[in-house]
Amino acid sequence: MLSIFSFVSVLALCFALPGACQTRTKAPSGAVVVRPSNPGSGEFTSVAAAINSLPNDSSSRTIFIFPGTYSGQVTINRSGPVTVYGYTSNVQDFNSNQVVLTHSASLGTAGSDDLSGTLRILSNNVKIYNIDIKNTFGVAQTNGQAIALSNYGSRVGIYASRMYSYQDTLYTNKGTHVYLKSYIEGAVDFIFGRLSQAYFEGNTIASKGYGCVTASGRQSNDAGIYLFNNNKIIKASDAFSNVTGDVWLGRPWGSESNFVVANRSQLNKAVWSVWNTATPNTDHVTFAEYNSTGSGVAGVSRPSFSTLLTSSQAAQYTIASAIGSDYISWVDASYLS
Ligand SMILES: *[C@@H]1O[C@H](CO)[C@@H](O)[C@H](O)[C@H]1NC(C)=O
Ligand SMILES: *[C@@H]1O[C@H](CO)[C@@H](O)[C@H](O)[C@H]1NC(C)=O
Ligand SMILES: *[C@@H]1O[C@H](CO)[C@@H](O)[C@H](O)[C@H]1NC(C)=O
Ligand SMILES: *[C@@H]1O[C@H](CO)[C@@H](O)[C@H](O)[C@H]1NC(C)=O
Ligand SMILES: *[C@@H]1O[C@H](CO)[C@@H](O)[C@H](O)[C@H]1NC(C)=O
Repeated sequence: MLSIFSFVSVLALCFALPGACQTRTKAPSGAVVVRPSNPGSGEFTSVAAAINSLPNDSSSRTIFIFPGTYSGQVTINRSGPVTVYGYTSNVQDFNSNQVVLTHSASLGTAGSDDLSGTLRILSNNVKIYNIDIKNTFGVAQTNGQAIALSNYGSRVGIYASRMYSYQDTLYTNKGTHVYLKSYIEGAVDFIFGRLSQAYFEGNTIASKGYGCVTASGRQSNDAGIYLFNNNKIIKASDAFSNVTGDVWLGRPWGSESNFVVANRSQLNKAVWSVWNTATPNTDHVTFAEYNSTGSGVAGVSRPSFSTLLTSSQAAQYTIASAIGSDYISWVDASYLS
């Protein structure tokens, strides 16, 4: 009986909130289709082959992927816009994702952070919806940088997608990015990069073990920023025991790290870390917080190189200040609160 009642309440939610249970189970017209088996004419069984079939011109192209686990690295580097949709029964909820991209590589085996990425976005105007991206080297190993998503594009949106590794899961390295209603799992420096302007909202950030959530590598006083608004930081369901008490929001990989977090809920009392004892890198960092909530916040002690913003200071940090006021032209607002 319980299941009937929950079914009824899910239906009620779907009717009460239009869009809350929007499905995407058919290829939009004109999309290149990927299926795990028995492809129709013009369809593909490999995501990389589908991407590589797109003409390298300025036209906008769409890929639609049926449920399945697809192994192999995928690189997007064509001139025009690319939108990739995963099949889903609820476009707003990553728990409904049914498409998985997997690849196993590390900096050591591939030669660079970027080259280890399961999904590499090297061009501009890319949207990714309802896709799980795993670096299985990182999921299995606790030593070695292994990127799930390597992002060098401008105007790139990642929506209701999930990224999994251990060290360096999300390489948000260059360009303007949004990560909305997504799931990012890792343990060490698992959101990191040098130059990007990145806005994170409505994500679940899951810590798997001892380490820092972010490692901003900003090296000069440029526009680079990570702005986090309304994200939840939790312990991953497969976390190691050393996650407890040993998760920091960030440490400065670069000497001018710029990271503002507002309205988050926090896992535990540890907040900000030095890069390491010999090279603290804290002289010019902006590690700022506003309105942190959660069980770990009460009585927390913050290091002197961090900042607690006043409400008027916090009001100056907005999605537009982070990624530019033209965000309206490229961000899918149905994933913003
Ligand atoms: C598309 O063309 C550009 C410029 O000619 C080139 O650098 C790039 O590698 C090409 N991308 C692909 C996927 O072929
Ligand atoms: C991606 O494209 C850019 C320019 O369009 C080009 O300079 C670069 O070499 C390409 N990268 C790869 C890995 O193909
Ligand atoms: C955390 O625990 C995992 C699993 O036992 C281990 O591999 C990792 O090295 C530990 N991290 C640290 C910093 O001790
Ligand atoms: C924090 O949340 C409040 C209320 O939703 C919002 O008005 C404000 O813009 C948020 N702060 C930042 C820095 O995003
Ligand atoms: C603080 O954050 C919570 C969400 O965590 C939000 O509901 C509330 O409006 C925020 N308060 C302010 C003053 O921004």
